[in-house]
Amino acid sequence: MVKNKNNQTIWNTRIKNNSSNLSQKIGSSIDVDKRLYKEDINGSIAHVEMLFKQKIISFRTKNKIIYGLNRIEKEISNKKFEFNKKYEDIHINIENRLFQIIGEEAGYVHTARSRNDQVITDFKIWIKSANQKISVMLNNVIKNSINLAEKNVDTIMPGFTHLKNAQAVSFAHYLMAYVEMFKRDKDRFENNLDSLNENPLGVAALTGTSFNIDRNYTTKKLGFKRPTNNSIDTVADRDFVLDFLYSVSVCSLHLSRISEELIIWNSDGFNLINLSDKIVTGSSIMPQKKNPDLLEHLRGKSGITFGNLFSMFTILKGLPLSYFKDLQDDKEIIFKSYDVLFESLKIFNEILKNVSPNKKRMLELAYSGYITATDLADYLVKNNSMSFRKAYQKTALLVNLAEKKKKKLNELSLEDLKKIEPTLTNDVLKVFDLKNSVNSKKSYGGTSFDNIKKMIRKYKKLK
Ligand code: ARG
Repeated sequence: MVKNKNNQTIWNTRIKNNSSNLSQKIGSSIDVDKRLYKEDINGSIAHVEMLFKQKIISFRTKNKIIYGLNRIEKEISNKKFEFNKKYEDIHINIENRLFQIIGEEAGYVHTARSRNDQVITDFKIWIKSANQKISVMLNNVIKNSINLAEKNVDTIMPGFTHLKNAQAVSFAHYLMAYVEMFKRDKDRFENNLDSLNENPLGVAALTGTSFNIDRNYTTKKLGFKRPTNNSIDTVADRDFVLDFLYSVSVCSLHLSRISEELIIWNSDGFNLINLSDKIVTGSSIMPQKKNPDLLEHLRGKSGITFGNLFSMFTILKGLPLSYFKDLQDDKEIIFKSYDVLFESLKIFNEILKNVSPNKKRMLELAYSGYITATDLADYLVKNNSMSFRKAYQKTALLVNLAEKKKKKLNELSLEDLKKIEPTLTNDVLKVFDLKNSVNSKKSYGGTSFDNIKKMIRKYKKLK
């Protein structure tokens, strides 16, 4: 093993001249990948334990290396470690320090290993724990959405298609729609675990190794499920990076759609929800303003996470197998996407606790736009033996009549209604009641109060 005296780089026997400052600056990723130090040290410990078990290194060497690595972990945790750009990345920074602490025997740590498998081992372990942290945040978001839903089962508002009043719904039903979206996000992150659970360690640079290593041993030690199958693919594969970035993107897309919706509902035109002072911002010139900046922030951030997904696609697109330096940027991209999503979920939790429906206005808006027209058509099918298409046409005529008379559907008299359909009786008037309308949607997944309560109960039980 190459000695590492006088702060020389590991390859200084082969590459005699120091690399230029520019080359060092460009090549170094330490500012970014130092975030992987714990995973790197745990990976190295598992690796040397395996090397010892396989009689590739001695007991003494293994212990010395583990001692050194543990010391380094403490140094880094206590901010006593000096990272150096000259040693490129977290792996060489740690190996270099190991030489300083335990001397020559540090040279055994990299037996049967390359940075190529080392880095993805670290990275997969990191992403697995990031998955878990996001899942916890998503649980909170689901919990807070349910809390708000629980208080608003009978809060009636217009449901929209094309942003036009469509049919009446419960505000809680909307909130429970968000729960479905976030539940799918959780599942998406969990589904990614399958490939994240394949252990890359031991494929070395790209071919595997001639040492008699035991990849099942490190697999177990590091909490993976099985070793990867092909050494070339392992070193070249970043599908697990794309999966994570995609999952982050979809989740932030959900946050963006919901934010946009809440921004619209908070606008003066709609005025359906109130945002507490905790989550609004003022204007520097217009004294009256309370702006939904946090929601706009969430909507904007999705641009960053989508961009990151596309950056990674583009980096990989023309890349032959196996390792190339191009791949190094995967970490910066993932860390950024993770940080953005984590913060966004935190913000959204805060928003959920500080939003309240403007119930009066919701009801008022729900009474406009002939929102019970479909209920009337359904009534005619059920009570006046008509096909749905026939009932649809009759109802459209009634809507035309109401429009002409500048009245709402519920303001039409029975005489007016009879002009279009003479068989109608007083009984029909109940369909114009919004509560009846919402409650009549009892089909599975519909907006009836009972359905919503059932869904709330179901999701409260979910872990
Ligand atoms: N810092 C490198 C990366 O993240 C580690 C792998 C380096 N391998 C190499 N052959 N240069 O990609």
